[in-house]
Amino acid sequence: MCRDQLADRTHRIDASGIRRVFALAAELDNPVNFSIGQPDFDVPAPIKQAAIEAIEQGHNRYSQTAGDALLREALSTSLGAELGWKDPEVMITSGVSGSLFLAFLALINPGDEVIIPDPYFVIYKQVINMLGGVCVFVDSYPDFGLPLEKISNAISSRTKLIIVNSPCNPTGAVYSKEELRSVADLARGHDIILLSDEIYEQFSYDGACPSLAQYYEKTLLLRGFGKAYAMTGWRMGYCAAHPCLKPILEEMTKIQQYTFVCAPTPFQKAAIAAISCDISALVAQYRRKRDLAHSLLRDRFELAKPGGAFYLFVKAPDELGTQFVEKAIAKNVLILPGHIFSERDTHFRLSYATTDAEIERGCDLLRSLCLQ
Ligand SMILES: Cc1ncc(COP(=O)(O)O)c(C=O)c1O
Repeated sequence: MCRDQLADRTHRIDASGIRRVFALAAELDNPVNFSIGQPDFDVPAPIKQAAIEAIEQGHNRYSQTAGDALLREALSTSLGAELGWKDPEVMITSGVSGSLFLAFLALINPGDEVIIPDPYFVIYKQVINMLGGVCVFVDSYPDFGLPLEKISNAISSRTKLIIVNSPCNPTGAVYSKEELRSVADLARGHDIILLSDEIYEQFSYDGACPSLAQYYEKTLLLRGFGKAYAMTGWRMGYCAAHPCLKPILEEMTKIQQYTFVCAPTPFQKAAIAAISCDISALVAQYRRKRDLAHSLLRDRFELAKPGGAFYLFVKAPDELGTQFVEKAIAKNVLILPGHIFSERDTHFRLSYATTDAEIERGCDLLRSLCLQ
């Protein structure tokens, strides 16, 4: 098939950076894999059992488009208590990516602007570009706090959405209550909708991760089950909103009807079991991994200590991020160049979602690169 037969939107997506890294990685023998975006533990046993039972009990057909009624109700009740909202709306989607895609489809017209703190999660840029939206990046280097003044300056009459991702992929930053309240006030002042991607919400190491949604009713709140319960392949996420945003969720449900149809039915049943599953011991392990990786790198590299997720976003010493990543891969350490997540090419992302022994082996190799 000729490239010119493809739809224009395919030319607005760029996956070349990631492809290049994985091509290099394919040649490695037993690399330290610091590129993984999911936890290294397995799905907790009671949740696996709930999925098996759901399949055996015949929950294998389509669910309702917006999701299993019991799961939606359970989430609505717990979010209502957490956020102080009465009967929040909830729809279940195929992963948080599903919620992102449906939200963007429901909200973004060609030419609409979306303000995104940079560095950012890759999907935002690619899907918004694909839809003809305009990403307005606001730089959050070097400490990766929420760049409030830059967000304020970036607001225009075309601003449709501001995206906030806390804990953040790739920086691991957890925004403070003050930062979140300020961005909420800013959005309220301009009547702009906020999208809060809180997929790593449970991986918050220095106190609970505050939710942006508690400060502003016009927030689309995105959370998921994949990261917290190590079920990324089960594709379970959800979008929740105050009843004042019900029309948006209704449109997202309509689009779901003609695209994804529904999230996987047996895993929606298993997600009900996940809600009451305590993963605090696993999160404590991840706090120790964060401390270990940070302590092994901080004297050789410039890096902010992140409060959550399972990533460090580290400045490459005296060269482009891409160049450092190539050198690291040649040493058998797989890390990702920062430009995949940013308009800059100065950093690299390290995922410490692996064993302590691998963290030590990989960090030693990275440290040795600084001596050359
Ligand atoms: C910030 C962020 N949002 C959304 C997603 C997508 O998650 P899911 O696997 O639930 O689609 C990811 C996955 O890495 C992520 O890092």
